[in-house]
Amino acid sequence: MEKLKIGIIGAGRMGITHMSILGPNPNIKITAISEPSKLIGSLFEKYFSGLTVYSDYNEMIQKEELDGLLLCTPPNLHKSIGLQAIEKGINLFVEKPFTTSYKDAIELAERAECKRLVGQVGYVNRFNDMFLKAKELLKNGIVGEVIRFKTEMFSSTICKPDDGEGWRGKIESGGGCLFEMGSHAIDLVNYLIGIPDKISGSLLNKVYSKNVEDIVSSSFYYNNGIVGTLFVNWCDPTYRKPSNKIEIFGSEGKMLVSQHELKIFLKSLRSDYKLSKGWNTIYITDIFNNVPFYVRGNEFTSQLFHFVDNIIDRSKTNICTFADGANTQRVIEEIRADAKINMGSN
Ligand SMILES: NC(=O)c1ccc[n+]([C@@H]2O[C@H](COP(=O)([O-])OP(=O)(O)OC[C@H]3O[C@@H](n4cnc5c(N)ncnc54)[C@H](O)[C@@H]3O)[C@@H](O)[C@H]2O)c1
Repeated sequence: MEKLKIGIIGAGRMGITHMSILGPNPNIKITAISEPSKLIGSLFEKYFSGLTVYSDYNEMIQKEELDGLLLCTPPNLHKSIGLQAIEKGINLFVEKPFTTSYKDAIELAERAECKRLVGQVGYVNRFNDMFLKAKELLKNGIVGEVIRFKTEMFSSTICKPDDGEGWRGKIESGGGCLFEMGSHAIDLVNYLIGIPDKISGSLLNKVYSKNVEDIVSSSFYYNNGIVGTLFVNWCDPTYRKPSNKIEIFGSEGKMLVSQHELKIFLKSLRSDYKLSKGWNTIYITDIFNNVPFYVRGNEFTSQLFHFVDNIIDRSKTNICTFADGANTQRVIEEIRADAKINMGSN
């Protein structure tokens, strides 16, 4: 099989991470990269052969014959670059948050669908073995009917006063805790529990940031009676790495899940899953699926290999589609609108 030609736009933290992860995939070749920083561009030119470096992504999209593109720029650029790539028939992996508005997300999803392209969003938790296990257990009713959940995400992204000059410090460019970290936590809820029918009680507050929120909380309601709460804090110095947690209380037990561990309490034995009555613990080291190249967590490799596999075999199920990305965007917008009502213009 001829190798797929992959391009990357935006060679910052995620672009470089993805490049290192995808590089060893035997089915692809990274042929082009676009990055406005002259320093980064010149380093790529110096150290990577067979790679064309562009400072202008328009030129790269037009000149290169790419099979797939990884879009790793600040989020406000995802829509316009994404649309150009789609019109050229290029399969797209777009980092989270998918876009900066629900409307843009829907437009991208519809255009990609129209062109029958693979569109994947970088909600990496969907590829974490612990959350995948939780999904399987929930689907099989291990904790019975879900009644309540509590989801939390913490990181130490902004731990000192921020002047708001960078893209993470502006809502318009996709910054702020809700877009950056909240999107991961919301997508995890959408994936494990479902998309909420109503949002209420949303509050945003600033700690260090001049223009954006640093802490987000909200309540989610479902027409089937499930109720849940969300709490996200991106200025918590007690977390070295971003950390997602979800606690799910059901009629037959309770589950506490993070990227590394799943604790489950059951009212009765489930021998089909080798789970005892009472407390059980499953560690990531017990169940992880190996990956050929590890950076930041197996899930980062799995999500990109999934993208490549889906380009090669269109019959595969895409587990993080543009439609999924749009659903998360809708919840983000609803939280922001609800917070505005609760707090006035913050
Ligand atoms: N999945 C995750 O865990 C995770 C983690 C961090 C960031 N992200 C997401 O990845 C994306 C990028 O974040 P990052 O941390 O890599 O940011 P970053 O600031 O480190 O990198 C962004 C890069 O895009 C480049 N860029 C800006 N304008 C450009 C243009 N017109 N053309 C080409 N390149 C351009 C910048 O020069 C920079 O190198 C964001 O959407 C972010 O939310 C995801």
